[in-house]
Amino acid sequence: MSYVIGVDLGTSAVKLLLVNKSGEVVEEISKDYPLIQEKTGYSEQRPEDWVEQTIAGLKDLVDQFDGSVSEIEGMSFSGQMHGLVLLDENNEVLRNAILWNDTRTTKQCQTIYEKIGKEKFIEITKNLALEGFTLPKILWVKENEPELFAKAKTFVLPKDYLRYRLTEALHMEYSDAAGTSLLDIHAKEWSNEICDLLDLDVSICPPLVNSHDNVGKITERVAEATGLSANTDVFAGGADNACGAIGSGILSEGKTFASIGTSGVVLSYESTGDKDYKGKVHYFNHGEEDAYYAMGVTLSAGYSLSWFKDTFAKDQDFQELLEGVGDVPVGSNGLLFTPYLVGERTPHADSQIRGSFIGMDSSHTIKEFARAVLEGITFSLHESIAIFRENGKNIDTVYSIGGGAKNADWLQIQADIFNATIVKLKSEQGPGMGAAMLAAYGSGWYASLKEGADTILEDAETYEPIPENVEKYQNLFRLYQEVYHQTESINQGLMAFRN
Ligand code: XUL
Repeated sequence: MSYVIGVDLGTSAVKLLLVNKSGEVVEEISKDYPLIQEKTGYSEQRPEDWVEQTIAGLKDLVDQFDGSVSEIEGMSFSGQMHGLVLLDENNEVLRNAILWNDTRTTKQCQTIYEKIGKEKFIEITKNLALEGFTLPKILWVKENEPELFAKAKTFVLPKDYLRYRLTEALHMEYSDAAGTSLLDIHAKEWSNEICDLLDLDVSICPPLVNSHDNVGKITERVAEATGLSANTDVFAGGADNACGAIGSGILSEGKTFASIGTSGVVLSYESTGDKDYKGKVHYFNHGEEDAYYAMGVTLSAGYSLSWFKDTFAKDQDFQELLEGVGDVPVGSNGLLFTPYLVGERTPHADSQIRGSFIGMDSSHTIKEFARAVLEGITFSLHESIAIFRENGKNIDTVYSIGGGAKNADWLQIQADIFNATIVKLKSEQGPGMGAAMLAAYGSGWYASLKEGADTILEDAETYEPIPENVEKYQNLFRLYQEVYHQTESINQGLMAFRN
């Protein structure tokens, strides 16, 4: 039997999957690492923690595996996007990585628009200048840590650094490069124009490769430390959202998923790079060669629910908390929630907005609040679906993945709010499976990624929209959309009271 390993370098942990040729996960290991949050809005990690925990995880995986390591043909990666890892001329890490959920760079985003022009910037990168993306982080270091920045030779993204440490070959692949704000998305090359206008040397950008490209083998040292064969091939991998798309079969025009994890993502396949969403949703290169995807992000999706549980129902587990939400009527008896606990991305790129419960009534119980939280998160995801539809996309089916696919009532809420058939996959392993599929495709197991997905993935359940609920939600969605505008300036005023 042949195997591949999918490594998913997430924000809280690295997850490793050992997958056989039938697409079955035969071993699964997870190793966590801390987040370093020195100030409000700061979010960093030590790249060395990623490396140590991945090597420890690979060793555990090999120890548990009862086959021969020579059968493990290759490995590939999925990674948290946008994080800045700055390297010196010896490829030594210069500072902690600044992560995708770090929002210290509002000023640098403004500088980008001032120096490049918003329209021009969107034309090249197809995206807005957002605090979470890599370019403003580079500018922040340049401005605030000039001595350190003077030593910077290259930057990479988290999983690229990890792959470098396993192979000693330094690259970035297109799907993650797309989230740096330095890539010309359509031309698939680094933008000299952006670099020139921001006084950055384009040589700071590493060589580009495709997600399925073979970039070498693991080093002897890594083979020794993990027990893997030094003959193990390494394939470049992809951004976590691109890998999530591959791992759930979003590989043809119109296929769409709604993923509810800590953050929420609605992602839809695009076969070309020339659509113009005017930056309203993200538009990135896919992990499939020359394909693209459009994506809207709710920063606090599953996080809103866990925040709610931890704050107001600490002694209940999720199952208890959500028991009976299906009996609460559509609209939670007049209670509306906006999930802006850490600001928002789509459709409002606003790091200052915060959440609301509107319409609290003395009759409301924890069940109405829990349902309102589910509805509010789903409305936020629906904003992205509405943008896709306004731009001519036909979205009649949505694959629901992640935590949001675990609860039948929430799946029905998604069907009713999205007004689309919701499909739940039989087995879903998220981005780690996408990474494994890239290694499998790179190793020649399939003629295409799509063929791999057709072999491995199977639909399990579907949820159809209920017309009466759809109509109620359409009315409620209009009120939901008003809350942002009505609370925007109040939240700006409240900034002064936040620590
Ligand atoms: C996407 C984004 C997040 C991270 C999470 O733009 O910032 O989905 O990739 O890992």
